[in-house]
Amino acid sequence: MTNSDFSLMAAPIQGHTDAAYRAFHAQVYGDADAYFTPFIRAEKGAPRNRDLNDAFGPLNDGHRTVPQVIFRDAAELRCLLDALKSAGAKEIDLNMGCPFPLQTARGRGAAAICSRELVSAIAETISEYTDIKFSLKMRLGMVSPDEWKTAFDLINKMPLEHLTVHPRFAKQQYSGEVDLDAFKAILDSTDIPVIYNGDIKTPEDIESIRRQFPGISGVMTGRGLLARPSLIKESLEGTELPPEQRLALMKDFHNRLFTHYQNTLCGDMQVISKIKPFWEYAETEIGRKPWKAIKKASSMAKYISAIAMI
Ligand SMILES: Cc1cc2nc3c(=O)[nH]c(=O)nc-3n(C[C@H](O)[C@H](O)[C@H](O)COP(=O)(O)O)c2cc1C
Repeated sequence: MTNSDFSLMAAPIQGHTDAAYRAFHAQVYGDADAYFTPFIRAEKGAPRNRDLNDAFGPLNDGHRTVPQVIFRDAAELRCLLDALKSAGAKEIDLNMGCPFPLQTARGRGAAAICSRELVSAIAETISEYTDIKFSLKMRLGMVSPDEWKTAFDLINKMPLEHLTVHPRFAKQQYSGEVDLDAFKAILDSTDIPVIYNGDIKTPEDIESIRRQFPGISGVMTGRGLLARPSLIKESLEGTELPPEQRLALMKDFHNRLFTHYQNTLCGDMQVISKIKPFWEYAETEIGRKPWKAIKKASSMAKYISAIAMI
C-alpha cells in the first residue's frame, strides 16, 4: 500500500512496535508507508543484538522499516551508524525528541535539539555516510516551545529526507495540547519535507491536519494507530470501517501476534507480558469491560477469557 504524495507512517513506540507488531500490522492492514523501529541505543559501545535483530531480522521483509537511533554525542552516533550500516541499513532516523529523563539527562533525545554544538557534530557526522538516507524526529525543546530555534539553522542544512515534528516539549511528555502555532513556525522555516506527529486518532484527524497544513508531506501516528490499527488503511481508502469490522481485523491482528509470541517465547507469563501492551491504548475500540479484564489478567486462562469478552 503506497500513497505517493502524502506519507502515512507508523511511529516508533518502545514496548509496542517491535518487529512482530510491525510485520503483522502490514500483513493484516496493508503496509504503512514506513514503520520506524523503537530507538536503538549504544550499550557498552555497541547496539544490543536484540535491537539489531528487531530492526534487520526476517520479520522486516516485505515492508519498509526505518531503524531509529538515539545518541548523546558524535562518537555514540558514529558507533550506531557503523553497526546499522554493516547490518544493511539504507535509511536511518535520528531521535531528537525522546522525553524520557533517563535519556535526556544524558543529553540524548529532546535534549539534543537544544545544543548547537551537538547538532553541528551530528550534521558533520551524517555527512560522512553518503550512502544512507537520514530523517530526523524532533520535539519543540525540553522545557519551552521555542528551544527548537537554538539550532534549527543547522538542522535546515542537513540533507534530510524528512523531518518529523511532534509539537510538544519534553517536560510535557505525551499530554497537554500540541502546539500547532509552533508546528506552523517550523513548517514555515524549512524546505525539508515535514511530517506531522501527535494525537492523531481518527481518519478525520488526518484530514483535519492536512487541511490546516497543506504544506506537510505526511503524518506519523503512534498511540492512535495502536488504539485503532486500521487508521492508516481507513485514511487511504477514504472511508471509515464499521466498528464490528475494525474489531474483527483487530482480533485477527492480535491472534497472529499472540500465536507468534507463543511460538517464540518461553512460558505463559512472558507471552502475557509481551501481548498485553497490544491492548493498552484500545479501551475505546474494544470497550471498558474487556479492556480492564485484559489489564488485570494474571494467568493465561484469565487472559484468554478476557479476550473472549471482546
Ligand atoms: C511508550 C512510548 C514509547 C515511545 N518510544 C519512542 C521511540 O522509541 N522513539 C521515538 O521517536 N518516539 C517514541 N515515542 C513517541 C511516539 O513515536 C510519538 O512521537 C508520540 O507518541 C506522539 O505521537 P502519537 O500522539 O501519535 O502517539 C514513544 C511514545 C510512547 C508513548
